[in-house]
Amino acid sequence: MKTPPFFLMTIFVSCMVRKSLCLTVCSKLVALEWHLDQILVQMNLTLMENTCGTTEDCWGSHGGDDLRAPFNFPQICPLQLQHGDKLVLVTDETLTSYGVSLLNVSKDDFESCSADRLARDQFVFPWRINTREEVESKWLKPGHHYFIALHDKNTQLCKHGLRLNVLVKTQLCQASPLVPLCSGRGICQTDNWEPTYSCRCHHRYSGRFCEKFDPCLDSPCKNKGVCLSSGSAESNHRTYKCLCPPHFTGTTCTEFIGKENCDRLCTNGTCVQVSSGSFTCICGAEFSDPPCERKTTCDPNPCRNGGICEETPAGPV
Ligand SMILES: *[C@@H]1O[C@H](CO)[C@@H](O)[C@H](O)[C@H]1NC(C)=O
Ligand SMILES: *[C@@H]1O[C@H](CO)[C@@H](O)[C@H](O)[C@H]1NC(C)=O
Ligand SMILES: *[C@@H]1O[C@H](CO)[C@@H](O)[C@H](O)[C@H]1NC(C)=O
Repeated sequence: MKTPPFFLMTIFVSCMVRKSLCLTVCSKLVALEWHLDQILVQMNLTLMENTCGTTEDCWGSHGGDDLRAPFNFPQICPLQLQHGDKLVLVTDETLTSYGVSLLNVSKDDFESCSADRLARDQFVFPWRINTREEVESKWLKPGHHYFIALHDKNTQLCKHGLRLNVLVKTQLCQASPLVPLCSGRGICQTDNWEPTYSCRCHHRYSGRFCEKFDPCLDSPCKNKGVCLSSGSAESNHRTYKCLCPPHFTGTTCTEFIGKENCDRLCTNGTCVQVSSGSFTCICGAEFSDPPCERKTTCDPNPCRNGGICEETPAGPV
């Protein structure tokens, strides 16, 4: 027996089992992460549930004044799929026995529920829809798809909300399929209004695929030194250079040039020589980093569980 190609062995996970992967916009999911498994999304084609009537209902409040915010009329909650996901439509018995076809239409025809042209190639299923039908992948290419229900040549059901807008998204998170998403240094994510998935990079990484490491994002240069990054992807060796202001030196501008400068600014600490011309200020226990201001009682933060510490004359609260 021939081994089936890898993609056929991909486990299908039903959207109903893993709720966090269900992608109707009505459920107001703002951010979705790209999943590596293909998902089987099951959608009920019915007027009884998961429908919406206004832009606000269908797309969430932040769609309100957005120009991309579509369609203020009854419809099934808009669906967002990851490219490659499977879509199964489950239609209730009332509708299947009444006889309903599903038609692929343009955005305008979706809005007006018109089916004037009625060409054979518009029918998503060759016959009337059955209780359970898988939508062929040719209808689920990346982009917006508009499907309306039709009974004979009548579009009343569509006007009542039996129409579905599906947005299929690809990801732009890899330079090649062989490298990890976002170079392993970010999350491949999308939200309602984005047409694709893209990288949200972890701290200090940047670039379309989080391939750039920016050591300057942490402001490593002290005393108002200017950080210059070499933009290398390697995080394990220093790839920045600090341009220090007058009187300061050292890789992160924490050392003083000459003992006079150190003595002048390090009044609460002790000046220690580190090289022929440079000195460093060692602060006492109750002082914070050079130039040794008295530690606030909130530093380090004594509040547990992320509490916010506030200074008062009586101590921290
Ligand atoms: C679809 O309908 C079934 C049966 O009515 C219900 O149990 C299920 O929760 C529905 N699924 C969704 C995603 O709404
Ligand atoms: C679905 O309809 C749209 C608008 O008429 C059309 O551009 C698109 O090619 C159709 N999709 C398929 C798979 O035929
Ligand atoms: C030294 O400590 C005092 C008392 O905390 C503080 O007021 C002063 O600003 C500190 N001096 C410097 C140079 O930070």
